Amino acid sequence: MAGEGQATTERWGSRVGLVLAMAGNAVGLGNFLRFPAQAMQNGGGAFLIPYFVVLLLIGLPLVWIEWSIGRYGGKHGHHSTPGAFDAMGKSPYWKYLGVFGLWNCLLIAAFYLYIESWCLAYTGYSLVNGFKTTNPEKFLSETIQGQYPNQILAATNLGMGIFAVCVCINIYILSRGLAKGIEIVSKIGMPMLIFFAAILAIRGLLIDPETDPKAVASPFVGLNYVWEPKFDSLTDPKVWLAAAGQIFFTISIGMGSMQCYASYVREKDDIVLNGTTSAWTNEFVEVVLGGTILIPIAVAYLGLEKVKSLSGFGLGFIVFPELFRNWGALAPVAGFLWFGLLFFAAITSSLAMGQPMLAFLQDEFKLTRKQSALVFGGMLLPLAIPVAMLHSSSFFDEFDFWAGTFSLVVMAVAESVLFCWVFGMPKGWEEMNRGAELKVPKVFYYVMQYVTPTFLIIMLVAYIFEPAAGWKTYLAGTADGSPIPAWEFSSGSMMGKLMHKDLPLPKDASEHEITFNSQLKFMRTVDRGVMVASFLGLAALVSVAWARRRRTGENQQS
Ligand code: ALA
Repeated sequence: MAGEGQATTERWGSRVGLVLAMAGNAVGLGNFLRFPAQAMQNGGGAFLIPYFVVLLLIGLPLVWIEWSIGRYGGKHGHHSTPGAFDAMGKSPYWKYLGVFGLWNCLLIAAFYLYIESWCLAYTGYSLVNGFKTTNPEKFLSETIQGQYPNQILAATNLGMGIFAVCVCINIYILSRGLAKGIEIVSKIGMPMLIFFAAILAIRGLLIDPETDPKAVASPFVGLNYVWEPKFDSLTDPKVWLAAAGQIFFTISIGMGSMQCYASYVREKDDIVLNGTTSAWTNEFVEVVLGGTILIPIAVAYLGLEKVKSLSGFGLGFIVFPELFRNWGALAPVAGFLWFGLLFFAAITSSLAMGQPMLAFLQDEFKLTRKQSALVFGGMLLPLAIPVAMLHSSSFFDEFDFWAGTFSLVVMAVAESVLFCWVFGMPKGWEEMNRGAELKVPKVFYYVMQYVTPTFLIIMLVAYIFEPAAGWKTYLAGTADGSPIPAWEFSSGSMMGKLMHKDLPLPKDASEHEITFNSQLKFMRTVDRGVMVASFLGLAALVSVAWARRRRTGENQQS
């Protein structure tokens, strides 16, 4: 088993700083854009029941597992998952599964930072009251994104410039270290975003259709839709999958960032209480604040039915700036608060996506923090530039699906098997509860060992093979008793994605549409090559690092 290494001795400055940084890692765009849209599209109150069940049976156990893996890795001189997995596993191959904890973060950061740069642009533009006259859809597509229908190249100088600024801000903060960089940003960003969100939520709930001529409904109609318990979707696997996907993304499970942050705690620190507190902080921000801004305001001005069909991005970046116009002189302030809070939410998460790679380079290649931050920037750019310069249906969507959704579950399966079955539950339980003021209830011993991995494997299979007609049809039959359709993969399944089912070509497509469609398919193939190459590249770095460790006799897996 590995011994103490000479890796970084960096630590969090304080417990509050650690919890805020960890909550900041979790609280992100997912809380304010993804959650409301998922809740609306999956039946509101009907979504929340599976959401909380998954949180309890999968989310929290994985939070404790990831904190335990992180602290264990840190104790052995490893602050990223390849080393942490190696220290815990009995086979030398575990470190290669740990590569997912670097790869996921790198690829997610590549598209996440791009959206973060939109938030920055929108914050500034709102402040100067730009949306008073500018159409937000045009602002996004023509000024920032440069994306036009059926055109593969999509970029503007301004958009790329703001994106570059955003990347530099992140690299600079990361280069300052945990206590002086990430922790300070979290201590400022988290309270600010909660404050901004609270103001918007209160203002939103004050919309009164009696006095506001633009309002078509009470905001409480939206709130009610999200909160009223409904049991009719409980038998629909689609809703369960959506709830599980949201829990993964919002808590940042399976990314590699939580393990990394947890690796900087001390050996006797209470990871159960800290982990639980940061996860519940995320839930408070997501369900209470995230659920009380976008939906009630949009429902008040657009009506429930219209809002159900809109995506989180569409609502947040295109619809919202227009709706704020209804608030007259308050519009620029509301825009500033909304996009400002999105920016704070995004940056505290993107920093967490950068830190694992820095930790890896520092621990395994002995680079300084500044050097690691620069190398991270160098690795990020070749991935992020195509995200920003090409139509969003190519690199952007692919990274989002493969790294931001599918691979999180793969990583979670790997770490729950590693922790519960390879390291072993008795040892794992002891490791997890060491120093804990709040002990995990014993029932979770069995939940973690049996329920969590079983659910994860079912989830993985469901993601891979999901049929176009929906799992429900195959499990419960068609609603009217008509014959069950032949199996065809859905456009959102892994198989469907591999077969480009989400890029259908209309029968009467023009020549230009045909060309564009084949360009998109080509770019997706290139993207997949890039994803495989980057994974293999990272695995090669791990291999080189361990060969170096063996040569120098530094701590290594026996
Ligand atoms: N957990 C982060 C979010 O919700 C990634 O955006």
